[in-house]
Amino acid sequence: MKLAPSILSADFARLGDEVARVAGVADLLHVDVMDGHFVPNLTIGPPVVASLRPHTDLFLDCHLMVDNPGVLLDDFAEAGADRCIVHVELGDPRPLFDRLRTLGVGVGLVCNPPTPVDAVLPYLDEIDLLLVMSVNPGWGGQAFIPEVLEKVRAARAEIDARGLAVEIEIDGGIDTATAPLAVDAGCDILVAGSAVFRAPDPVAAARHPGRGGGLSPWSTPPRIGRPRSSPSPTAWPRGSATTAPGARWWPASPRRATRWWTTG
Ligand code: DX5
Ligand code: ZN
Repeated sequence: MKLAPSILSADFARLGDEVARVAGVADLLHVDVMDGHFVPNLTIGPPVVASLRPHTDLFLDCHLMVDNPGVLLDDFAEAGADRCIVHVELGDPRPLFDRLRTLGVGVGLVCNPPTPVDAVLPYLDEIDLLLVMSVNPGWGGQAFIPEVLEKVRAARAEIDARGLAVEIEIDGGIDTATAPLAVDAGCDILVAGSAVFRAPDPVAAARHPGRGGGLSPWSTPPRIGRPRSSPSPTAWPRGSATTAPGARWWPASPRRATRWWTTG
């Protein structure tokens, strides 16, 4: 099992230090890119990846939660991204895969919780990584949606049956309680944002028992910004997670979200 700390929950004013701090316990770094359209939140882009690149040798895995990833792929490649993960909800991802291969950047495909696993199975032979979202994308610190584990199991069975080397990653709400469930279902890589960077000791938090450290369990930080209600698991396709009636998973008050972003 590999651990991918998500820098979304790090202190952006000290990003180089935050990354250096977890370098010894991270297998790769997860970079959440949000454009304020595909998801309501707005985060970081290629300039931050370029700034980070000289400060770490860790594999930089860029999760693109953007409406138009095609216009950003060259910039991410130039910035030093090792892989870009694109959302299947946007439609046929093959042109994006082709561009990433041309650029020499790894190819990841991701599906939101409401998206059926059948949407990604046709692409398994063409990708390096399948990311299964275990929260609706947009914010750190949300509650894990256990129903997605069934999709992990289905994808695992298919990948193994086809003899593929595709890794399965899970993203959202991973902590000491949910990590074993994800590993058990067949995940190879766990993304963890708040459970690592919001813990009193991120290094100890990253060395959870599942990694052989047997140190203090991951702490669960206050879940500010969690959804008020879970979106319908049947809502599909693209955009449904952000627009479906009742799918109000963003914070009730932007002010609270701002506070969460800016406090340590
Ligand atoms: C959510 C992001 C996640 C986020 C996970 O849209 O894709 O990568 O950082 O944060 P936690 O681990 O706090 O749920
Ligand atoms: Zn992510």
